[in-house]
Amino acid sequence: MASGRVFKLNTGSTIPAIGFGTWQSQPDDAYNSVLTAIKIGYRHIDTAVYYNNEKEIGRAIKDSGIPRKEFFITTKLWNTFHRPDLVSKAFEESLAKLQLDYLDLYEMHWPCAFIYDGDNLLPRHENGKIILDHTVDFTETYAEMEKLIEGGKVRAIGVSNFSVRNLKKLLKTAKIIPAVNQCELHPYFPQNKLLDFCTAHNIHMTGYSPLGSSDSPLMKNNIVIDIAKKYNVTPAQILISWGIQRGTSVIPKSITPSRIQENFKDIALEQVDFDKLSSLRTTNPQRLIIPNNWDCDEFIYGEDNEDDN
Ligand SMILES: NC(=O)c1ccc[n+]([C@@H]2O[C@H](COP(=O)([O-])OP(=O)(O)OC[C@H]3O[C@@H](n4cnc5c(N)ncnc54)[C@H](OP(=O)(O)O)[C@@H]3O)[C@@H](O)[C@H]2O)c1
Repeated sequence: MASGRVFKLNTGSTIPAIGFGTWQSQPDDAYNSVLTAIKIGYRHIDTAVYYNNEKEIGRAIKDSGIPRKEFFITTKLWNTFHRPDLVSKAFEESLAKLQLDYLDLYEMHWPCAFIYDGDNLLPRHENGKIILDHTVDFTETYAEMEKLIEGGKVRAIGVSNFSVRNLKKLLKTAKIIPAVNQCELHPYFPQNKLLDFCTAHNIHMTGYSPLGSSDSPLMKNNIVIDIAKKYNVTPAQILISWGIQRGTSVIPKSITPSRIQENFKDIALEQVDFDKLSSLRTTNPQRLIIPNNWDCDEFIYGEDNEDDN
């Protein structure tokens, strides 16, 4: 059903409801899985500098023979490139690796700056802690990203892993409202207040880890399994359908052709089943599947009621 479904962005353009995730896809797997996904019909591809596969994804897009204008390609500014003098350089490097002359969406990956250390994306102190860059604030990084829009090589800019608190701060200085906030979203971590805030401010949300990521506890949840049986579909298709029915785009990742095919189909859930899935967090203690604050000063996820549900 979702193969042709899209959501409208505040830029006036659209984003396909089901995208294709590529985190943890090793370069060869990324090439093969993206090519498979494109053949199946996916046109929305999500990558990032941090995933170390932009080059192979660019090659897969090119080798698919599908015209560029049919795609919606997202990549992200990594934390070591937050300094205003590095934003445009990082952006151009991503474009070159992807062999594209424009991006559909460029996101700030995290609201958190690390010091620049060349190819080292995780600069660490001897004690193992990330070396943060306290000289730059994410509002300054974002202002530099806004200039990329003027340059015409990106259609939309957005953020990722932004809490309500950080969005409020950003909106005080932003000239361009972020088109998208990409965050972890699934029934164990629905972030209802964050979604409400984004909806109220015309910021579309993309849900990452919609299946609950690797070795997902959600896929083994009996309620999810029972609902899947009722519709004669798989647990993955139920989780994807729930995400889309909330108005969020979803970007499931797989390197397995049969799953790539399976994940490109959603169904319409009856309200009763949608509600059951939405209430899973109340009975299940497991919430955030990707807990990652990068030792960062800026609050990302945690004990803030504003970001809780
Ligand atoms: N912005 C951010 O900070 C951020 C953070 C995390 C993720 N993301 C994005 O969101 C994407 C999705 O998140 P994710 O990769 O964490 O998790 P996910 O898509 O929720 O789950 C991926 C895992 O589920 C397995 N899988 C996929 N389809 C399946 C199916 N139909 N049945 C059973 N298992 C299935 C995959 O295995 P196989 O691959 O072995 O098939 C993989 O282990 C990422 O790839 C990335 O593009 C963004």
